[in-house]
Amino acid sequence: MTTPQEATAAGERLLRIEDLEVTVHKHGGPVSLVRETSFEVREGEIVCLVGESGSGKSVTARTIMGLTQLDPQMEVTGRILLGDDDLAAMPAERVRRLRGRDLTMVFQEPLSSLDPVYTVDFQLREALRRRERLSRRAERDRLLSALAEVGIHDGDRVLQSYPHQLSGGMCQRVMIAMALLGRPRLLIADEPTTALDVTVQAQILALIDRLRQEEGMAVLLVTHDMGVAADLADRVIVMYAGQVVEDAAPRDIFARPAHPYTAGLLASIPPMVGERPERLLAIPGSVPDPSALPSGCSFHPRCRFATETCLTTRPIAGDLDGRRVACWNPLIEEGVA
Ligand SMILES: Nc1ncnc2c1ncn2[C@@H]1O[C@H](COP(=O)(O)OP(=O)(O)OP(=O)(O)O)[C@@H](O)[C@H]1O
Ligand SMILES: [Mg+2]
Repeated sequence: MTTPQEATAAGERLLRIEDLEVTVHKHGGPVSLVRETSFEVREGEIVCLVGESGSGKSVTARTIMGLTQLDPQMEVTGRILLGDDDLAAMPAERVRRLRGRDLTMVFQEPLSSLDPVYTVDFQLREALRRRERLSRRAERDRLLSALAEVGIHDGDRVLQSYPHQLSGGMCQRVMIAMALLGRPRLLIADEPTTALDVTVQAQILALIDRLRQEEGMAVLLVTHDMGVAADLADRVIVMYAGQVVEDAAPRDIFARPAHPYTAGLLASIPPMVGERPERLLAIPGSVPDPSALPSGCSFHPRCRFATETCLTTRPIAGDLDGRRVACWNPLIEEGVA
């Protein structure tokens, strides 16, 4: 069996999250949105963050970008290491300078992240200038080719447009072009292709895949789509109720999910040709509200394997056959292939 480390031995570790906790302080008292979260992304690696709506994927992604921390109601603890630098301990101004250069993010809501008062041309040039200075003419050529890479072939028109003059899908593509223009070391892409049709989606995922291979770009890809994770991921991190419940190589996750929640997520994939995981579970219910988390394991009310311990005691993530799993009764046993 391949451990996550073996599967990704090619690249150096670029991002390491250690014991990340995100808490929001509102009128009703503190509410924990992300807990005990640790994982890493290596150069040239695509790590997929999966889980149902409300599981904490976007909060985690935005926290790595230093954006959650801009809200005075939010408290972030733990370490966010980019190389040897701890972003969590850096002044906000230094993190701001890294954004758009070393780390960039494609947001789940593209319209909210493009500035409505500037043309696409202006915003893309700004992004490019964070990385390098070129003549205006050379800049324009770069912008047009960046747009072509995301399937926009009437680049002249799009450059002159303001975001509100473009469709949601077009804005999403502009966002992706903008994020990739600076050739970041780390790309965080939060559901980057949800508003796009299947052909464009495939083209953009292929572009991201090429940049990680050719330029060693590291990618944290947030997705609902287990099919995308199966195709692209070097590692899959499954989040539930603000916690990582499983972190493993995709071949392990898909052939033998260890966490009952992972198994339930897999049951939501439409049938594929070839081998199917044996243990398919439909999961009733939905992700709990962070202000009313169940006792013990947050997943226990939806888990058909829950025991007394699961009701009372929160499981700590531990190593199990080369993966990390937070479960009292995992579906696999140590050393049984
Ligand atoms: N600013 C905030 N204040 C209070 N609660 C928040 C805030 N931002 C997010 N949350 C809550 O944190 C939880 C996780 O949200 P998050 O957006 O990370 O989910 P997600 O996994 O990205 O879901 P989706 O797949 O729908 O995008 C949700 O319950 C959400 O309501
Ligand atoms: Mg989200």
